[in-house]
Amino acid sequence: MRVRKAQGTLVPAGGLGDTPRFKTSPLRLGEGNVGGEVRDSWNKAEGRGQGDGQSNMCGIVGYVGHQMAAPILLDGLARLEYRGYDSAGIAVLDYQGHVTVCKTPGKLTTLIESLNSHLPLGASGIGHTRWATHGRPNTVNAHPHLDCGKQVAVVHNGIVENYLELKEELKRSGHAFNSETDSEVIPHLIESLLAKEIPFEDAVREVAQLLRGAQAVVAMCAQEPGHLVAFRSGNAGGITVGYGEGEMFLASDLPAILPYTTRVAFLAPGEMVSVRREGARYHSFAGQEITKTPRRAPYSAVAIAKGGYRHFMLKEIMEQPDVIRRTLVGRISFDPPDVWLEDFPFNSAEIQDIHRVLLTGMGTSLHACQVGRLFIESLAGLPAESDNASELRYRDPILDRHTLVISVGQSGETADTLGAMETAAQLQARQITICNVEGSQATRMAHGTVGIGVGPEIGVASTKCLTGALVALCLLAAYLGKARGVLDSQRLGKVLQDLAAMPRLLSQVLDQGQHIEELAKKYFRYDHFLFLGRGINTPVAMEGALKLKEVSYIHAEGYAAGEMKHGPIALIDENMPVVVIAPRDHLYDKMCGNVEEVKARGGTVIALITQGDRELASKVDDTIEIPESPYLLSPIISVVPLQLLAYHIAVLRGCDVDQPRNLAKTVTVE
Ligand code: AGP
Repeated sequence: MRVRKAQGTLVPAGGLGDTPRFKTSPLRLGEGNVGGEVRDSWNKAEGRGQGDGQSNMCGIVGYVGHQMAAPILLDGLARLEYRGYDSAGIAVLDYQGHVTVCKTPGKLTTLIESLNSHLPLGASGIGHTRWATHGRPNTVNAHPHLDCGKQVAVVHNGIVENYLELKEELKRSGHAFNSETDSEVIPHLIESLLAKEIPFEDAVREVAQLLRGAQAVVAMCAQEPGHLVAFRSGNAGGITVGYGEGEMFLASDLPAILPYTTRVAFLAPGEMVSVRREGARYHSFAGQEITKTPRRAPYSAVAIAKGGYRHFMLKEIMEQPDVIRRTLVGRISFDPPDVWLEDFPFNSAEIQDIHRVLLTGMGTSLHACQVGRLFIESLAGLPAESDNASELRYRDPILDRHTLVISVGQSGETADTLGAMETAAQLQARQITICNVEGSQATRMAHGTVGIGVGPEIGVASTKCLTGALVALCLLAAYLGKARGVLDSQRLGKVLQDLAAMPRLLSQVLDQGQHIEELAKKYFRYDHFLFLGRGINTPVAMEGALKLKEVSYIHAEGYAAGEMKHGPIALIDENMPVVVIAPRDHLYDKMCGNVEEVKARGGTVIALITQGDRELASKVDDTIEIPESPYLLSPIISVVPLQLLAYHIAVLRGCDVDQPRNLAKTVTVE
């Protein structure tokens, strides 16, 4: 029976008659409820996992309990849409034992509109938002997927690398497939094992071992109401288990379940969980029982609400002064100057044994590494380099136990970064991760974590996590410098005071929001931008370009200004505004030289200048003034106007700022 066909399809499974429905009040999704803010230390004893990094990047939610599942699933998915937004779907098991699947291509709002407040009735279910890898983003390819008998529903994050051979085998034994996805083999495999009278949980365990690649899967079965089984293999994103009162939650990411519970546990690779209303039981793929104690999540639901801002990106930009305070709190003192990093894993002999540092990450986090490298050289007196994590694992890096590898990541689940960390682990390097998500895979793989701790970042374009990562990197460099005896008390005190002044200076930058919006109105129609910086502001130029292309789809290039004459200068004309980062530091004269060269070729220049710099202001077309700041910390100040510029330009161009096309917040695919 087809209940409804709009942009999507409602697919009642089981086929035994109409599935009961109930009418809800209009759904208000994705805004957080007020909850207690808890910072707690997390269980790191969940094993350092190995992963192969092949996966797709989807949001997963599951619920069993005493409430209606559908609104909770949709609400959870709304909080996860930054994970993927090609299509969305839910499956609910009703009280008659029918599985009802509702799915649509496009964003979650399309699914909600197609439901028109008529939600499937039932107290257990699973949901999914998809970022397509295998198969187009249409209704049949959307998750959840079903078996032939429509008894088993599955949501999946990852890539089943051997799905073609599994599919062929299943087809030969009579299974019929609807979609082009790799994921659909999973419910059919479970079905084939159920047919051999293997219990549901054992069937899922067997399937977990049959799949090649990295996966995160949640499955439910019509014969087992109120029971969900999930597993994680490799690094295809996490599975978080949330503990409520007489109800349990599953999710790929914490924000999905924060409004309902802050008691959570995580699956490590190679683990599975069986969830019923009363609680959870954990096993290895080999069937060995695992004990896990739920911990307090460090965030409240209020941290994931927009809080009156039009977009998460703007909220997260504006939060940055507070982000710095939160990253510093409890870690510095002035009399005498000192820096502490909680649970730092290496003692002073081990720190002395470090001969060099390699920083690695992707995207915005790589830009943080490029700045961090200069912190390490300057404050810790150690040779340092930075490398793109996706490249690192495919060369023959010279790493050993005398190398400290610092990985940087917002999510702690980026496949490329985890791959680089695995390479570092194989070569016995010491590892610290700078990460915003406690309990994530990166925090389990590294010997120690310097938490960014700035609360969930929901906008797909990373903003506040960059600032937090820079502060954390500076603290780490100062900590190493002090421990190695190369950073004397006076210089340490100066660095810490400079850090403590950052929130005030940043507030001055944010006060210019109106001016930057006016600039955006002047420039938003241009289709190409060039960003130039020098020294510590070179990564900032690259980040300015990345932000602009991510959210506004404008072609933008970021370069070290010294490179300009070696090629990019050929691009300069009146159609390509050049953003130069030119604070009054020791590289100022050289940046002025670049400005002259651009102007001499009829180019347009927008310059980030130190407040009151009339000289440069008179030579350029527009300026954004930034307060004077110490050279080492200037990226924290100079990157923020570029974030705001990208944001306002994107809004004026009508772009989807928080969920830009083709992107996903956590890139768990190589
Ligand atoms: C940043 O705006 C991007 N969304 C992206 O480059 C991101 O920084 C990158 O994917 C790394 O993510 P991570 O920090 O979670 O590892």
